[in-house]
Amino acid sequence: MAENRTRQAMIQTLGCQMNVYDSERMIAMLLEMGYTLTDSPWKADLVIVNTCAIREKAEQKVFSSVGRLCGIKRRRPGMRIAVAGCVAQQQAQKIADRFAGVNLILGTRVIHRLPAHIRALENGENRIVDVEMPDDRTAEPLGRDAETAIVPHGQNIQSGGVSRYVTIMRGCDNFCAYCVVPYVRGREASRPPERIVSEVKELVAAGAREVTLLGQNVNSYGKKEGLCSFAGLLERVSKVEGLERIRFVTSHPKDLSDELVAAFGAVDKLCNHIHLPLQSGANPVLKRMNRKYTRESYMERIEKLRSVRPDIAVTTDFIVGFPGERREDFEMTLDLLSKVEFDTLFAFAYSDRPQAPARRFDGKVDPAEKHARLRELLDCQEQITRRIYERLVGRTMNVLVEGVSKHGRNTEGADMQEPVEMSGRSPENRIVNFEVPPGAGMQASEALIGKIIPVVIDRACANSLKGKMPANGSAVRDTNKGGKIHAA
Ligand code: SAH
Ligand code: SF4
Ligand code: F3S
Repeated sequence: MAENRTRQAMIQTLGCQMNVYDSERMIAMLLEMGYTLTDSPWKADLVIVNTCAIREKAEQKVFSSVGRLCGIKRRRPGMRIAVAGCVAQQQAQKIADRFAGVNLILGTRVIHRLPAHIRALENGENRIVDVEMPDDRTAEPLGRDAETAIVPHGQNIQSGGVSRYVTIMRGCDNFCAYCVVPYVRGREASRPPERIVSEVKELVAAGAREVTLLGQNVNSYGKKEGLCSFAGLLERVSKVEGLERIRFVTSHPKDLSDELVAAFGAVDKLCNHIHLPLQSGANPVLKRMNRKYTRESYMERIEKLRSVRPDIAVTTDFIVGFPGERREDFEMTLDLLSKVEFDTLFAFAYSDRPQAPARRFDGKVDPAEKHARLRELLDCQEQITRRIYERLVGRTMNVLVEGVSKHGRNTEGADMQEPVEMSGRSPENRIVNFEVPPGAGMQASEALIGKIIPVVIDRACANSLKGKMPANGSAVRDTNKGGKIHAA
């Protein structure tokens, strides 16, 4: 077989946008090393699993996935397996002990060393474990921005796309009692605004129209380092020409400042949506979670946001069955659901995590009860989402077109009269699938990708909206405030 055959790599990404972003960086490094990408472990010379440790289930998924890959490797001995991400950081020893087939275990803070480690493997090393987590206060001053310095160009650019992530900070200092993130990602550190702005510019030049700024708690951006505030950063990013929309995740309610609320009034490109994880509607639970806000202060923040943007969509996260959560605490959570009217939410059954203090808390909730509460919460939210979505029927929304919808008909070579279904998002982050006028064909439909177009909503589905593009609807400039449409 050809020695100089192009080497192929596969990356499997589990977990949150932090991992998505890190995977993009790893892809950029691999491409630079001459690898091409494949999605088959039967073809790959190198498989990287980028892992998540947030809940026990996520961790189990990692172990079964790595086990499966090791099985494949027994039939393809030349294949190399790397485990990166949060489980690698936290459970390096366990992975090393359990899986002889794993060649590289790479922590969350040393991703930039991937190329060097791959070269070492290619030169005969069989096992490298690098989970060093430099202490930001004592180690090299974080290189300020070590990773981007090492991958100066093209980091996360190659994969293209209309909507892209940009990490603005990493780590977390909040130590919520249930959470593993501060242990697997280390202390919070922010990137300088000029680096962020130049990355956004590169992404826009490569076709992005929307960026989502990422951090575990973006509201505390820059505070430690004395950089600009998060609201200041939003303003700077919004000046990037060609960028249409800005989103961010995640905001911690305790740090949602008046300045940031005001930014929703001042920064046009800021989308009409905020993800504000509440976790519980009961004050005693919030206290034990170490969340440092109350249901009252949360409501006060929501009211303030809605005074600036009456139509803002609010989404959230909940944990049910946190140790000591009583039925009446859970009912306080249900009560807030209808008071806030969340657009959608993510809800999780509490899961004990190694290192997180809550694993030692008394009053563990019975698993069957936890799952019953989870079901009840999701059912309750389903009604609310349906109500909100049904109110939107008949409205026109600005949709940033991202691609052909999952159910988009493939009209290639087929009847050109068949309408094509495209998919995008409204400023509120609602998925909108819409038909382009019949006869437009696939090519013309695909030309819409990256454009913001008005769509008239005609149907509410469980997790998305359906609509039609007006026959004369041409691209418009976005004004995310209130989701109104302004013709260019
Ligand atoms: N930084 C974000 C959350 C990141 S983790 C914030 O502060 O909100 C994403 C979500 O996972 C959390 O909001 C929480 O709802 C859930 N989660 C985290 N740890 C969990 C655990 N041990 N058990 C169940 N859910 C958990
Ligand atoms: Fe975890 Fe809390 Fe930090 Fe979010 S703010 S990452 S929930 S410790
Ligand atoms: Fe999971 Fe790590 Fe993100 S634990 S949620 S991938 S920061």
